[in-house]
Amino acid sequence: SKDPVRVLVTGAAGQIGYAIVPMVARGVMLGPDQPVILHMLDIEPAAEALKGVQMELLDAAFPLLKGVVATTDVAEACKGVKVAVMVGGFPRKEGMERKDVMSRNVSIYKAQASALEKNAAQGCKVVVVANPANTNALILKEFAPSIPPDNITCLTRLDHNRALGQIAGRVKAQVSDVKNVIIWGNHSSTQYPDVNHATVRTSCNGEDRSVRELVADDPWLNGDFIATVQQRGAAIIKARKLSSALSAASSACDHIRDWVLGTPKGTWVSMGVYSDGSYGVPAGLIYSFPVTCDNGKWSIVQGLRIDDFSREKMDATAKELSEEKALAYSCLN
Ligand code: NAI
Repeated sequence: SKDPVRVLVTGAAGQIGYAIVPMVARGVMLGPDQPVILHMLDIEPAAEALKGVQMELLDAAFPLLKGVVATTDVAEACKGVKVAVMVGGFPRKEGMERKDVMSRNVSIYKAQASALEKNAAQGCKVVVVANPANTNALILKEFAPSIPPDNITCLTRLDHNRALGQIAGRVKAQVSDVKNVIIWGNHSSTQYPDVNHATVRTSCNGEDRSVRELVADDPWLNGDFIATVQQRGAAIIKARKLSSALSAASSACDHIRDWVLGTPKGTWVSMGVYSDGSYGVPAGLIYSFPVTCDNGKWSIVQGLRIDDFSREKMDATAKELSEEKALAYSCLN
């Protein structure tokens, strides 16, 4: 049988943490034949709650779960981890300036970058979930220079999955029959959900048909559809009085699973990755692109046609990310 893989979840006593740890322990993230050891990090005020989560993990008797480390010590949490899911961060509170929130997160991600660099296993794959996710990931990358930049990503798969869900609902298809939507840019309301290359497998002959053709409503695709995906987080908060947690947890598992085990042939997913300048996106930002994964490596899908409408939206979200980057850097001084 396989050796267990150590998986770090930071902010593990929080909402997403509570939703994701059972998924990891059940093999949703790394596969049903991959034993895991969960490393859970939170901060001192949440230490007691974190103990409670550890107790429940024991009580659930997960066959794949070979151990649990629950700690408030960052170095101990990072020791030997192969996968790091960074959910912990400083939330924006009422009346706080953007710069204050950024500054708190910059110092958290700077410190955690060093801890990962010193303690994680070789080739550790990192996904940052905590907001501002792209910029937190960028700071992590900057302060962990010995971790290959390709190993540091942020989560936009939730937005990708939300887009699949909206299209499936609109054309009355199964969500599993919709593929190749794209989330470009920031995990924020400037993200651009793009359906120009997306398809739906039709039930009659199993053929893939273009979403634009099938929906046949460009005003909706260019208007309400985009706004719904962009504003979905706010809609969930309005309904639940709490932000998305089960969908965020599930999407983070999808992100790591596809990265490690590969994307199906002919299918791409969206991941926030370190830009190499593809599609005219400034290099040096963590920007969400369409990617395929093979052998534990992602690569940006190349050669997609970008129309003027898309270009404008891709540039706007890049501009926001450049501004966030500048703000983050100003917090370092
Ligand atoms: P939460 O507030 O329930 O949990 C956050 C946890 O992080 C808390 O237990 C807190 O004590 C802990 N924490 C704070 N600072 C820490 C540090 N320095 N080290 C370790 N742990 C620390 O929040 P929730 O709902 O679980 O969301 C977590 C983050 O994920 C938020 O930033 C949220 O905005 C973001 N998010 C991102 C999504 C995405 O698609 N990228 C989707 C949904 C949420």
